[in-house]
Amino acid sequence: MPRIPEDILQRIHDATDIVDLVSEHVQLVKKGRNYSGLCPFHDEKTPSFSVDPDRQFYHCFGCGVGGGVFKFIQEIDRVSFIEAVKFLAERTSVALPERSGPSREEDAAGDELYRANDLARKYFHHLLLNDDVGASARTYLQTRRLAGETIERFGLGYAPPKWDALLKVAGRRGLSPQVLERAGLAKLRSEGSGHYDRFRDRVAFPIANLSNRTIAFGVRALQPDQEPKYLNSPETPIYHKGRVLYGLSDTRDAIRRQDTVLVVEGYMDLLSLVQAGIQHVAATSGTALTEDHCRTLARYARQVVLLFDGDAAGSTAAMRAFEVLLGTGLDARVVSLPAEHDPDSFVQKHGPDALLERAESAQSVLDFYLEQLAQQHDLSSVEGKALAVERLKPLLAKPRDAVRRDLLLREVAGRLSVDEQSLRHDLQASMRRPRKAPAEPSAPAAPDPPRHELEFMGLLLNFPQLIPATAKEFAPDALADARTQALCRTLFDRHAHGKAIDLGMIISELEDDALARLAAQCAAQGFDEEQVERQGRDYLLYFQKNALQKRIASARQALAEASKASDDGEIARISAELVALNQERQAVAAQQSS
Ligand code: UTP
Ligand code: MN
Repeated sequence: MPRIPEDILQRIHDATDIVDLVSEHVQLVKKGRNYSGLCPFHDEKTPSFSVDPDRQFYHCFGCGVGGGVFKFIQEIDRVSFIEAVKFLAERTSVALPERSGPSREEDAAGDELYRANDLARKYFHHLLLNDDVGASARTYLQTRRLAGETIERFGLGYAPPKWDALLKVAGRRGLSPQVLERAGLAKLRSEGSGHYDRFRDRVAFPIANLSNRTIAFGVRALQPDQEPKYLNSPETPIYHKGRVLYGLSDTRDAIRRQDTVLVVEGYMDLLSLVQAGIQHVAATSGTALTEDHCRTLARYARQVVLLFDGDAAGSTAAMRAFEVLLGTGLDARVVSLPAEHDPDSFVQKHGPDALLERAESAQSVLDFYLEQLAQQHDLSSVEGKALAVERLKPLLAKPRDAVRRDLLLREVAGRLSVDEQSLRHDLQASMRRPRKAPAEPSAPAAPDPPRHELEFMGLLLNFPQLIPATAKEFAPDALADARTQALCRTLFDRHAHGKAIDLGMIISELEDDALARLAAQCAAQGFDEEQVERQGRDYLLYFQKNALQKRIASARQALAEASKASDDGEIARISAELVALNQERQAVAAQQSS
């Protein structure tokens, strides 16, 4: 069990909303009191994943996962309970006690990287807004027509020309050159000793993760002849450019609302669009679109519109993006901009409506891809077709589900006017590659506990007010299944230790995964609130009677054995016990019928 005090856990728990949290990973639709969506823990096409905002827990009717906010982070990020707590503490700005958990040093190291990036962002931002040294950058951003509001909103800054400006500021805050180096903000001198600032005399675009913490920077030169135009932070323990999308921590709500994301390639493209009122945008930063990017985007929207530069590089990027997108199930289209434009310059020149219009009438990425292929190969010749087919083959096997694969194949066969059957036949070889094993069935191998016991646990989990009275007169042993017994003991233990009986917390704290799932499964059942007291009572009596019956049965057996052995003392003892047990049973039965 964690050493994080209960009240702090509770505060973190209370400050986190399960719907918000899950929404960062799953697209949720409101259904009655609950929200539902596609389960992020197994592959499915119809939603069986449900989030209950009142009771603050999630549950998948398909694969059986379930839990509260801590459990969700544990499972989705594959981290320990402690790490999940830390993540949510961070997110909710609840302070954790200094010493908690075993991986403290490791986390402290990660923490320093965040601190370093955070400090750099504040420092650069301050220089841009308030310092003489930032004058040239201010002028530059004016020429790019970025409004003060946009600069504020995205925390833009200016990295000054000196070789050790950030190093010094950081040093005063107890951040060593080594930490800055690991954060990607300083470099080791190749000759002599010591470090120097990586970013100098450039406009800084802070890159945030989805918890809105700065993890890296992209920085732009002020002069047109300065090479390279952009520098980016290197990969660090907290920054993986293949995973992060620039701007997304800010724009994700808009993306969710539109169910569409416009993907651009540049920092300036994103800022320009957002400033023009097109908010559902995200940018790759200095890297091609990856599957990780797509997975992240798929949490927020089903449709992707690629908005790349109008030039050849933009087309190549779109083609590569298509190859990645195919495997994701996202509906992807691509906007072709005039060759002289990128999204930024296009919006500046023609305004947001013109851009949105183009986005709406955007071509499917497949069409686009085939068009590009047609430019590279002469599709009217057999030779050219064969080359195009070779190029397309690996892509045709990409969609994960058979229906999509089939649609794609037909479409491609039609477009290239090749025979569908021969194409299919041709493909079979590459389709026979080993496929990902289906998601492990996560339900415990043992049969489910008896239905009554699940209902009883569900009742206690949902209506903890029943627990004090229940704990007084009920022994968990009376339950037939070891898992429901364990769950019941956990509830009683919490009650005995004066801990809050909070569904999300309990499920999150259960260390045994199977047990946590079971708890979620129990809790997900519906109960009639008006009947709760009576039901609690009924179950109690039912289990008590069952337990008594079991004891009576074994007493009877013992009696038979004692008779066989003619052990009179034993016979008398057991007989007396039987009488008592039967009386108890009758008393319970009497209460049951009343
Ligand atoms: P572009 O060259 O299209 O620049 O690079 P841009 O976004 O239009 O930038 P402005 O408008 O000239 O300021 C697109 C993206 O590619 C990355 C950056 O992330 C940039 O935003 N890039 C570009 C680099 O990482 N390094 C470079 O030298 C150039
Ligand atoms: Mn540009």
